[in-house]
Amino acid sequence: MQSEKILELKELHISFTQYTRGLQRRTIENVCGLSFSTYAGEVTALVGASGSGKSLLAHAVMGLLPYNASMDGEIFYRGRLLEKEQIEQLRGSEILLVPQGASYLDPLMKSGAQILKGSRDPQKKAKLKEIFQRYHLKEDAAALYPFELSGGMSRRVLIAAATIEEPKLMIADEPTPGLEKKTAKMVMGHFRELAEMGSSVLVITHDLELAVETADRILVMHEGRVAEEAFPADFQAEETLRHPYTKALWRAMPSHWSVSARGANDEER
Ligand SMILES: Nc1ncnc2c1ncn2[C@@H]1O[C@H](COP(=O)(O)OP(=O)(O)OP(=O)(O)O)[C@@H](O)[C@H]1O
Ligand SMILES: [Mg+2]
Repeated sequence: MQSEKILELKELHISFTQYTRGLQRRTIENVCGLSFSTYAGEVTALVGASGSGKSLLAHAVMGLLPYNASMDGEIFYRGRLLEKEQIEQLRGSEILLVPQGASYLDPLMKSGAQILKGSRDPQKKAKLKEIFQRYHLKEDAAALYPFELSGGMSRRVLIAAATIEEPKLMIADEPTPGLEKKTAKMVMGHFRELAEMGSSVLVITHDLELAVETADRILVMHEGRVAEEAFPADFQAEETLRHPYTKALWRAMPSHWSVSARGANDEER
């Protein structure tokens, strides 16, 4: 049986209107007909170049697009059109975003309090302790303010803050830069556990290698839309990938450098 469709984007367009000198209006479309779905029980990775619109799409789902953005297309959550009122209700509980960059932490609130969102629930406190252990955060890190945390620690605090909620849909925007491979894999492992509990997890990442090693499905974003939807097994060989951009990404993966160098030499001969 196919598992429940959690998120569905249909022909999403996001554009910005800018005013140039002489007050001329210019519209730039950054997301151009993006469609894909995610499912309960799955970890889906979304990879794409910097500036390809990955964070925009995450913010669109969360209803947090900047004021100068305009959006067209439809976003469905569990089969229902996700309207403004609904996302405002679900955001932060059923639908969660681990935002890109640690600046989203409240600078005036200690990290532990931030994760618990003021809750004194002993169960949540116990879970916080467990999550801190899992991410190798010392217990006293809960008493630190964001400016006292290193970049890697901030990232882990953000992830801890999101995972304590057990969301139905979790979008993690670049959750692993600044983390060593082992910790990055552990973070992905925790997302996998969330998926096994029934969540749908969408991980936005530059790290294709990590995506191939840990996700169920990989969406390759190019020029504002999904160029290819592939399974990790498709990345075993260049031939099983369809889009030229995905093939280029494949050749750029460190584990394929020797193969692509050989390919280039063959062509020279
Ligand atoms: N408020 C804004 N006004 C104008 N353009 C914007 C605004 N926010 C984002 N953009 C543009 O939209 C495009 C997509 O941005 P986005 O942040 O989604 O990229 P991304 O794929 O997440 O990149 P990265 O991998 O570097 O995080 C970029 O070209 C960016 O300059
Ligand atoms: Mg981004």
